[in-house]
Amino acid sequence: MDSSIDRERSSMDIAIIGAGRIGGNIARQLAAGGHRLVLSYSRDLAALEARAAEMGATAAAPDDAVAGAEVVVIAVPWSVLPDALGAIGSLDGRIVIDTTNQFGAGPMPAEGQTAAAFNAGRMPGARYAKAFNTLTSAFQVETAHREPRVVQWLCGDDQAAKDVVAGLIRDAGYAPVDLGGTAGCAVMEAPRRNGAVYGEEYRLAEALAVVDAVRDGRPIPPTPAY
Ligand SMILES: NC(=O)c1ccc[n+]([C@@H]2O[C@H](COP(=O)([O-])OP(=O)(O)OC[C@H]3O[C@@H](n4cnc5c(N)ncnc54)[C@H](OP(=O)(O)O)[C@@H]3O)[C@@H](O)[C@H]2O)c1
Repeated sequence: MDSSIDRERSSMDIAIIGAGRIGGNIARQLAAGGHRLVLSYSRDLAALEARAAEMGATAAAPDDAVAGAEVVVIAVPWSVLPDALGAIGSLDGRIVIDTTNQFGAGPMPAEGQTAAAFNAGRMPGARYAKAFNTLTSAFQVETAHREPRVVQWLCGDDQAAKDVVAGLIRDAGYAPVDLGGTAGCAVMEAPRRNGAVYGEEYRLAEALAVVDAVRDGRPIPPTPAY
């Protein structure tokens, strides 16, 4: 069997940096799916430990959490990213799932640069992917495992890492759809606007039509209504 497929299906060690609304839901879904979760990076360690215990996870300091993880989910406010990345230390060789959106203070992408490309650049050595960022946390909680599956978009420049991330998105109860590399993923980034998928519910058939349009450099089809 292809080793990447095998790996995609096995139970993984996953660190959540910022187990709030977005990171907390991802952690709960993946813990329920049989993965080993460690929660990290909080202003209240006792509360974090309690949250971890509720879902059968553990809590650890950021550098320890990342050192023991194959996959690192980054789910902190944009303005906090520089501090969180400093606390984590090296991400070398780790598959990173970046859930952040560029709202609030802090360093910003250059004109025309996607937030994904910008963030990948400040995570040297990481096998970077972006996902779980287009839908509100409440909607993600409400729709996990719902049929038909809700799409979680992903992008990244490391195909093997994206295969793993796609498997985790499935395990979390959504349908993964790959939009391609970090340079061309603007349609899945904030803000919500015409001609973008950010902020919108998609199901598989309509999402695949978006992928075709992005790949061909065409405007995406009108936003679906379900
Ligand atoms: N909320 C949404 O609907 C949504 C949707 C898509 C994407 N996103 C993106 O996902 C990322 C996380 O958003 P979220 O809504 O999940 O945030 P959140 O609920 O506020 O969670 C942030 C997490 O970061 C931790 N943290 C540690 N130090 C912090 C500090 N100095 N300031 C703030 N938080 C700190 C918090 O832990 P303690 O509170 O225990 O300290 C908390 O676990 C953001 O980049 C956001 O743009 C959010």
